[in-house]
Amino acid sequence: MAGPIRVGIVGCGEVTQIIHLPALIELRALFAVTALCDVSPSVLASVGAPFAGVHLFADYRQLVEDPTVDAVLVCNPDAYHADVVVAAIRAGKHVLLEKPIAVTLAEADAMISAESQSDVMVQVGYMRRYAPAFVEAVALAAKVRGDIVLARVHDVIGPNATIIDNTSNIYRAGDIPDSVIAEGRRRHAERVKEAIGVDGGSRAAAYSLLLSLSSHALSAMRELIGMPERVIYAAQRDCGRFLSAAFDYGHFVCHFEAGVDRIPHFDAHLEVYTPTEIIRVDYDTPYVRHLPTRLTRIGPETNAGVSVQTMFPTRNDSFVAEWRAFHRNVTEKTRPKTTLEDARNDMVLARDMAAKMA
Ligand SMILES: NC(=O)c1ccc[n+]([C@@H]2O[C@H](COP(=O)([O-])OP(=O)(O)OC[C@H]3O[C@@H](n4cnc5c(N)ncnc54)[C@H](O)[C@@H]3O)[C@@H](O)[C@H]2O)c1
Repeated sequence: MAGPIRVGIVGCGEVTQIIHLPALIELRALFAVTALCDVSPSVLASVGAPFAGVHLFADYRQLVEDPTVDAVLVCNPDAYHADVVVAAIRAGKHVLLEKPIAVTLAEADAMISAESQSDVMVQVGYMRRYAPAFVEAVALAAKVRGDIVLARVHDVIGPNATIIDNTSNIYRAGDIPDSVIAEGRRRHAERVKEAIGVDGGSRAAAYSLLLSLSSHALSAMRELIGMPERVIYAAQRDCGRFLSAAFDYGHFVCHFEAGVDRIPHFDAHLEVYTPTEIIRVDYDTPYVRHLPTRLTRIGPETNAGVSVQTMFPTRNDSFVAEWRAFHRNVTEKTRPKTTLEDARNDMVLARDMAAKMA
């Protein structure tokens, strides 16, 4: 492919404005934004204004057919992801798909099937797995896999708005017709019911949290220590806002904790314990760019002391690393590590956890 990859974006809300557009502008030698789509005319016009000649669409079906688009970034609500991805694949466009890939396994399977019959590639936007500190932790954990005695996955954060409203000034939609908003809610609830058998209440809220926040953690856990054999238990409290679970890995157990409180913070980490070392990865909020992901190693220092080493190999944002990987995968025709099939495992875990909560 000569020149930058030309990107069309479906969904121009928070993650597009705060994260993806700045990353694409930073990587302007590799990417050019040529088309935008949103159901809000005001958001579309405002987000598109700085991009000379950008094509603006209210309907994703027109964007994916646009000949100026080589690849599609999918950032609209989760229950619409599969429609856009399948249409983009059929139009011969590569896709970077925001997590969660979908709400139901049937949607995931439809995308996997469409991709398998095409010459294009879908990369899932699990940016935490592209952070260099995490990649280094994966290499360390691989060397001690048989010695692991305990693991932990922890994600307790404040409401996104407490960070976004303080650090960004984004265009928000005030002009989406009520019927479009109602249809989005109906579609999400319908798909949650298809996935776990209920469309409201605490368990449905817990499933939505598993897909939205915890898909990141589940995905990173799988790359770090593999797919668990089974969910030992899973429980939700506070109307589905706090989740606890344990995964059976045979010779060790991995504890899982997730929740949304009212403190403007972001406490997300993974830990792997062996009898002689603790390997830990800490993430910060994605809504403030270039906050480094950190790797910490804790071990004995002589007979009486302890060594604690924290490092980050780069300050560059993990979304930029994700886009660089996307560029390599498109131009070198390689498969991403975050494929649709890989991400489907997180939907299976979310489904199994929701079932244990029943
Ligand atoms: N990787 C991450 O850390 C991360 C962070 C935030 C969000 N996300 C994911 O990105 C996606 C978008 O999240 P967001 O926070 O930007 O949401 P948002 O609500 O801020 O933005 C979504 C945008 O899509 C538009 N939209 C709604 N329906 C549409 C349709 N049918 N076609 C085109 N546009 C439509 C809305 O008008 C809105 O502008 C979600 O899947 C979310 O899970 C990922």
